[in-house]
Amino acid sequence: MMTDNLFKSYALNSTITLKNRIVMAPLTRCMADNELVPTQQMADYYAKRSDSGLIISEAAIIRPDGQGYPNTPGLFNDKQIAGWRVVTDAVHNNGGKIFAQLWHTGRVAHPHFYQGEFVLAPSPQKVEGSVPRMRELEYTLPKAATVEEIAQLVKDYAQSAANAIDAGFDGVEIHGANGYLIDQFLHFDSNKRDDQYGGTASNMARFPLAVVDAIAAEIGSDKTALRISPGAYFNMAGDQRDSDVFEYLLSELEQRSLAYLHVGIFDDAMSFDYLQGNATDFIRRHYSKTLMGVGGFSAETGSKAIDDKRFDLLAIGRPFIANPDYITKVKSGAQLTQYSEHMLAELV
Ligand SMILES: Cc1cc2nc3c(=O)[nH]c(=O)nc-3n(C[C@H](O)[C@H](O)[C@H](O)COP(=O)(O)O)c2cc1C
Repeated sequence: MMTDNLFKSYALNSTITLKNRIVMAPLTRCMADNELVPTQQMADYYAKRSDSGLIISEAAIIRPDGQGYPNTPGLFNDKQIAGWRVVTDAVHNNGGKIFAQLWHTGRVAHPHFYQGEFVLAPSPQKVEGSVPRMRELEYTLPKAATVEEIAQLVKDYAQSAANAIDAGFDGVEIHGANGYLIDQFLHFDSNKRDDQYGGTASNMARFPLAVVDAIAAEIGSDKTALRISPGAYFNMAGDQRDSDVFEYLLSELEQRSLAYLHVGIFDDAMSFDYLQGNATDFIRRHYSKTLMGVGGFSAETGSKAIDDKRFDLLAIGRPFIANPDYITKVKSGAQLTQYSEHMLAELV
C-alpha cells in the first residue's frame, strides 16, 4: 500500500510510543457546556477517533481571560478536570493516546466571555475584526502585560499542564501558533515591547521559552510539545524580521527534548517570502527532532512527505471531522466523506 509508512509505530521518546503516525489535529468545536466543562458527547467524539496514533484535544483555555470563542473548554478548575477525565478515560479505554492543547488567545480574547475589563497581550496592538459567529463582539485594544503579569501567565500555563496530567492526558501541546498569545510575542506585528520581552529575537522568544521550560519542569519534557507558526497567516501580519526570531527560537528548542514540534498552518503549501518558502521546510532546516506536519494533506501526500523526510508525523484536521473512521478508511482504501463547514454545527 502507498501509505504503509503511516501505519508504523513511532517512539516520541523512551516513555511515549504512538501506534501509528496519523495524529488527529487540534480542532476547536465550541461544544463545552456553559461552565466550559467537556461533555459526554465530547468524550464519545474523541473515543471514536482513538485509533489514530495520537489525538490532540481542541484547544483548552488555561484561565478565564484566555477565552476568545464561545463554549471552548477550560483546564483551570476541578469541574473541568473531572470533565476531561471522562474524555481521557474514553480514549484510553479504546486504546488511544491524547494530549491536551493549552491555549490563551491573548489579544484575540474578548472580555465578554469572562466579564473582564480588558484583554492582555504583549503590546496594545489591536487585531482587526470581531469574534467569529458573534460578529457584534469587536476585538478590543489590548493592555500590554506587565512583567509581573507575564510571570503569572507562565505559572498559569504550568498549573494548567499539571491539571491536564491530573485529568489523565498523556501530555500537553502548548498552543504557540495561529496568532494567539504565545505567537503574539514572536511576531513584530503584535510585539512592540522595548523591555526584556521585545525588540530582539532572544527577547521575543523569552516568554514562549519560559512557558515551555515551566511546563517541562512541571510534567516532564517527554510529555511537553509545542505548536508554532513562523509564517504569519491568521490574526497576524508578517514582518521580514520574524524569521530571525523563529531561527533563534528553533535553535533554543533544538537544545531541549520536547515530545514533538508541530507546524501551525491551515495549508502546508502556503509560502512566505521571509521564510524562503513554506513554514514546514523552514522549521525543518532549523530543527532536527520530531516534527509534525499538517495542512491540506491526504494520507497519500502526507505519506510521501514523511518518505521525503519533510516531517515525521502527519496531523489530519478537517478530514477527521468528516470521518470519525478516518484510520479504518485509509487502511482499507475506502472513499472518504468530504469535509464541509456545516459539519461544525454537530459533534459526530
Ligand atoms: C474547525 C477548526 C478548528 C480548529 N481548531 C484548532 C485549535 O483548537 N487549535 C489549533 O492549533 N488549530 C486548530 N485548527 C487548525 C487545525 O489543527 C489544522 O492545522 C488545520 O485544519 C489544517 O489541517 P487540515 O487541512 O488537515 O484540516 C482548527 C481548524 C479547523 C478547521
